[in-house]
Amino acid sequence: MTAVHNIDHEREVWNAYAESTRDKVFDDAAPTFCWTQYADHGPGPEVLGEPETVLEIGCGTGRHLAFLTSRGIKATGLDLSPVMVKNTTERWGLLGVRFVCGDVLDHLTTSPETYDAIYSIFGAVWFTDPARLFPLVAARLNPGGVFAFAQPPAIPGAYGPQGMYKGGFAGPARYTYRYSYPPEVWEGMLREAGFEHARARLVDAPKPGYIGTLLVRAVCP
Ligand SMILES: C[S@@+](CC[C@H](N)C(=O)[O-])C[C@H]1O[C@@H](n2cnc3c(N)ncnc32)[C@H](O)[C@@H]1O
Repeated sequence: MTAVHNIDHEREVWNAYAESTRDKVFDDAAPTFCWTQYADHGPGPEVLGEPETVLEIGCGTGRHLAFLTSRGIKATGLDLSPVMVKNTTERWGLLGVRFVCGDVLDHLTTSPETYDAIYSIFGAVWFTDPARLFPLVAARLNPGGVFAFAQPPAIPGAYGPQGMYKGGFAGPARYTYRYSYPPEVWEGMLREAGFEHARARLVDAPKPGYIGTLLVRAVCP
């Protein structure tokens, strides 16, 4: 199956998400760094190594970047939604986090900046064709740089781009895709894009029977 992305529609979907998470950004959000969907569970920023510069792709509420900035790391967040970027700049900009609005494929193609680590936590990696994205990430990492991302594991048998309509089924036809593969397929795609030490693993949920987290890490030669 070939996905047919409509980035304008995706931006609308994510603007709506940004409106719905406004309180999270301004009221609830404390700087934190967690790869899983369960607070204070699983590995932390050590997965990134010891970067001086990082880029989070699809950074959403920006909490992870705020955390890394507080540790002296030069942190940049990229997000497709201008509403989200406005909110996060207002919330975290004074700490020194830089937020950029754009589509990850466009941005990595046109921006010459490079980083010690690029990561995504339930972010742009989940919503972007890895065959197009991974080589661009590899090109924007410094030698020895780390690429890491987390998202829910694939539902058995549901692999490749998984289309989703926004909200109910009676409104404007706006949709996004999520990309899901078994761990060994993620590892193969990373190797094909030129990464080394590619490892995709499942972090168990804190409670038996709950949804775990796929955590993937690879290194640029
Ligand atoms: C589920 S949210 C991310 C959650 C984030 N880790 C947090 O803690 O808030 C996914 C984010 O990815 C962004 N995104 C989706 N597709 C993108 C793309 N093509 N380029 C850049 N950002 C994208 C969305 O705008 C959204 O803010």
